[in-house]
Amino acid sequence: MNNNPIGVFDSGIGGLTVAKEIVKALPRESIIYIGDTARVPYGPRSKEVITRFAKELANFLLKRQVKCLVVACNTISATCLDEIEKISPVPVVGVVEPTIEMAIQVSKSNKIGVIGTVGTINSKAYEKKIQSLNSKIQVYSTACPLFVPIAEEGLDDHQATELVAKDYLKDLKDKGIDTLILGCTHYPLLYKIIQKTMGKEVVLADSAKPTAEKLKKLLEEKNLLADAKPKYEFYVTDAPERVLVVASRFFGKVLNANLKQIALPTL
Ligand code: DGL
Repeated sequence: MNNNPIGVFDSGIGGLTVAKEIVKALPRESIIYIGDTARVPYGPRSKEVITRFAKELANFLLKRQVKCLVVACNTISATCLDEIEKISPVPVVGVVEPTIEMAIQVSKSNKIGVIGTVGTINSKAYEKKIQSLNSKIQVYSTACPLFVPIAEEGLDDHQATELVAKDYLKDLKDKGIDTLILGCTHYPLLYKIIQKTMGKEVVLADSAKPTAEKLKKLLEEKNLLADAKPKYEFYVTDAPERVLVVASRFFGKVLNANLKQIALPTL
């Protein structure tokens, strides 16, 4: 069991930002990643549809004998993590909780901002969880849907992105937050512009590192750490050629040799 892979999934390739941190934190672990590039984005979809798609991805990985599941997608983690936990015989790690724990540690003003997709923000998962841990903390959130295509197009250093960021973040700037949760897989790619827009005194908390650390702790606690030469397999549900170009921005070179396309009906 210990040398079985970790299953990581996302609505697309954005979750590779999380997979990359898992490789860094756990270099002896094998990973199977699946990104639903045929049906991304999940952000604007209903809870029912997100849940159905997410269960298909989880089942694809469970059939491949993964020893745990990492829900690398904020939209899935925020809307239906509990549904994934119900169908999974192995431990499940989402991105919402570890990111919140880190943000709470960092914040001194007790005012935390959250940005994410429409699905993530509408779910109120971040607010509810933060307030259940510390009711004194005020949470302000805003959906930033255009950040996803902007990151995929590689416009992380573009004037248009600055304008979009200024518009999306202007209300949050007035709230006096000292910590901003980047509640979406894609947003770490726009780190520079988001930081510049919010000002350097605001700490940006992204999901990738805290999630990888939480996973490491879980594997240690459950005696599930691997001790083998790691193997990486990456699956997408559409367009692996285009995906390869974009994915290199999210992850790196390792991907090229191991990317396979699978048809949606086989999920
Ligand atoms: N992976 C999604 C997230 O982290 C962003 C892309 C999408 O909308 O599916 O929320």
